[in-house]
Amino acid sequence: MSDRRDFDFLVIGSGIAGLFFALRVADHSRVGLVTKKRAADSATNWAQGGIAAVSSREDSLEDHVRDTLVAGAGLCHEEVVRFVVSRGPAMIEALLKLGIEFDREAAPPGQGHGFDLGREGGHTRRRILHHRDATGREIERVLLARASSHPNITLFENHAAVDLLTSAKAGLPGGNRALGAYVLDAGTGQVERFQARITLLATGGAGKVYLYTTNPDIASGDGMAMAYRAGATLANMEFMQFHPTCLWHPQAKSFLISEAVRGEGGVLRTQRGDAFMTRYHAMADLAPRDIVARAIDSELKRSGDEWVLLDITHRDPAWVRERFPTIYERCRSFGIDITREPIPVVPAAHYCCGGVRTDLQGESDIPNLFAAGEVANTGLHGANRLASNSLLEGVVFADAAATESLRRLPHLPEREVDAPPWKLLGATPSDEAVVITQNWDEIRRLMWNYVGIVRTNRRLARARRRITLLQEEITEYYWNFRLTSDLVELRNLSTIAELVVEAATARRESRGLHYTLDYPELDDAHFLRDTLLRKAGPAAPA
Ligand code: SIN
Repeated sequence: MSDRRDFDFLVIGSGIAGLFFALRVADHSRVGLVTKKRAADSATNWAQGGIAAVSSREDSLEDHVRDTLVAGAGLCHEEVVRFVVSRGPAMIEALLKLGIEFDREAAPPGQGHGFDLGREGGHTRRRILHHRDATGREIERVLLARASSHPNITLFENHAAVDLLTSAKAGLPGGNRALGAYVLDAGTGQVERFQARITLLATGGAGKVYLYTTNPDIASGDGMAMAYRAGATLANMEFMQFHPTCLWHPQAKSFLISEAVRGEGGVLRTQRGDAFMTRYHAMADLAPRDIVARAIDSELKRSGDEWVLLDITHRDPAWVRERFPTIYERCRSFGIDITREPIPVVPAAHYCCGGVRTDLQGESDIPNLFAAGEVANTGLHGANRLASNSLLEGVVFADAAATESLRRLPHLPEREVDAPPWKLLGATPSDEAVVITQNWDEIRRLMWNYVGIVRTNRRLARARRRITLLQEEITEYYWNFRLTSDLVELRNLSTIAELVVEAATARRESRGLHYTLDYPELDDAHFLRDTLLRKAGPAAPA
């Protein structure tokens, strides 16, 4: 059997961006959609809060733009913010048309604005459309059902993209361009060439690079690492967003307590009952996320406690159960009744604001390689993402990338020259799986301890030394043993760790999500710019 498959479009990742893009382009083209586990294993599926878009008379595009710019601490690209915010209402229409349901107000018909809008940190208005507290699950359910039944979309589950195929790597003449990807079939262990005229990275984020994260296991930064190895520019990798409220419980793994809980009146308290956020910001519990996460970190360090408390017990229990059924049930499974007792919470890595630098059409600086969703850095989030702007960004840029790709497709050759087949690396299966778990744990722990919410030069230098050593070991292992998806992820995770440390070291100021004790002030004179990283050498300034 040939090791080559051909498509018009290769989509890597099955969250909102990948699925929306696939559905937009599929009617007149062949789409291959690869996803490294089951299709529903995406960060989209875990998104609780919702999708921010202007949809009430009390709100305005200008207000949404302003809130996004304020959260972004000077680094948002204003033209991108305006583009995304202004596309919001149309994108909500598109999602509704596909069959996605958002909660509606209980008001009689003809009154109110229709949607039950939530509020989250940094938003000065209610503007979060949601489906109870499981918005992502609703979006994923509808998009996946449509993509799975589309005759032109072939879905490959348990297929992990290993590296991008580019003309430069294949030694083809002409400028560098994307040709698809090498993809590992986890079932057979074979690496195949998935060639395509246009490739979209929609692989999500990299939260797994930290010990504590709200992200699903798939979030190992694969798309960012592959794009970097292929020569694309990455931007702002130092801005890792820590969500203030992840459930603290010895048996709970990665469970988010949505910011919507604070949007509905939830109050953060120390274990002694002090509602501390009023001491940190005028918006108190609804301050932007970086401020809340740092406030919790500081309270924990001061008290020596392991967690703080999030209290929603003053709201009507029936209403809490109805509005937050997922959170209520999950907490109850750990013996916590959130209607009667406060929830123990800690900050955890949540969202990577950095990623593959893309333009207004969602294209990277490698032609025909597009990126949308968390994998991309579009310029929307700046130094700190405004809550619930990410699903919106994912769908806006999937749409923009689809429009541009469909325009370009007729001008691209039907069948590009053969990219070279995958070179078999080591053929022997590893006899020491412990190497993978050991390195995986070490990276995540050192990133948490040295490159976390509060950084210093010293900690960053320590992290860098250790990552270099780990990378030597991982590279040797990579070339000597049979490739597995665990090994692919480990290699990518180590690249992400390296890039976060490099970007954090380069930014000698504190801004948004990057806070360092060595440079605690903003330094607009030198650092009002993006941090760009490219393998071949430093990229041009943004
Ligand atoms: C949340 O529900 O708190 C998460 C929303 C987001 O990260 O945008």
